[in-house]
Amino acid sequence: MAKSIAIVTGASSGVGREFVRQFDQGAGGPLDEIWLIARRREVLEDIAATCKTATRVLALDLTDEASFETISAELDREQPRVQWLVNSAGFGKFGDFNTIGEKDTRDMVKLNCLAVVESCYRVLPHMGPGSRIINLASIAGVIPQPRLSVYSATKSFVLEFSRTVDHELHGTGIHITALCPKFMHTGFLDKPNDSEVARKMCVIGFSPVDKVVRKAIHAAVLGRALCIPSADMWAAHIITKLLPSNVSMELEDMFMGMWEPMRTADRR
Ligand SMILES: NC(=O)c1ccc[n+]([C@@H]2O[C@H](COP(=O)([O-])OP(=O)(O)OC[C@H]3O[C@@H](n4cnc5c(N)ncnc54)[C@H](OP(=O)(O)O)[C@@H]3O)[C@@H](O)[C@H]2O)c1
Repeated sequence: MAKSIAIVTGASSGVGREFVRQFDQGAGGPLDEIWLIARRREVLEDIAATCKTATRVLALDLTDEASFETISAELDREQPRVQWLVNSAGFGKFGDFNTIGEKDTRDMVKLNCLAVVESCYRVLPHMGPGSRIINLASIAGVIPQPRLSVYSATKSFVLEFSRTVDHELHGTGIHITALCPKFMHTGFLDKPNDSEVARKMCVIGFSPVDKVVRKAIHAAVLGRALCIPSADMWAAHIITKLLPSNVSMELEDMFMGMWEPMRTADRR
């Protein structure tokens, strides 16, 4: 019988790492193997060593097209049944559009959009009824974010791509869930040069990573196409749907503008 596996990209840190932990604890049902994908082999191997489930480490740069040939070759050789695919690898750069470097801009599109499409394309033929895909979008993909324009647009892409393919998959027993969390304490905000812009945006608060992942797995099991794992962001989502986008962006600017006086008052 084919092995039942979970494939997690971005498994070396943050959300992806937490998916690996929860799958290993059985949150996604019985699994024969978890495949961990990210660039840093040593980190992946350390995480794999903590798992009681068998693991396979694939140290790959997902901005490189050749990485998907490697994934396809592994899948063709092993012929597993992929129960879970989690596309968590991603990154975002804060700041006005013309202040973000060309390479970062290109890589954001490659990793956040193209890699998600490629991995779905390669993995879907190895899925069957009951299989699930979770694609990491973001609340930034639901509510347009000035000063995070490219990132916000890539996450909007992930959201629409996931929803539409989920619709096409109707009747197959396979579902795709777009996960749209707000900020979480992960490597995402841990980069050098994280700007004042990022710190201002964090005024919306943080969700605990373990809770986000638990809710995502639950939503995916139920076959939901969208998971916004916090009530305040659901409310923001509904409000922004009712408003023209220029008005919602003006409101966001006003909200961020309130942040500095609040912070100064906190320091006093
Ligand atoms: N944290 C937040 O506030 C937040 C909020 C909403 C949505 N998200 C989304 O959640 C997802 C996970 O982010 P996170 O919060 O877990 O951030 P993170 O801790 O920085 O994790 C990002 C992961 O992506 C991997 N990665 C980065 N570049 C890669 C590349 N070129 N090829 C392969 N893997 C690559 C990293 O591993 P290596 O460095 O080892 O390659 C790491 O495992 C992202 O898609 C992000 O956009 C995050």
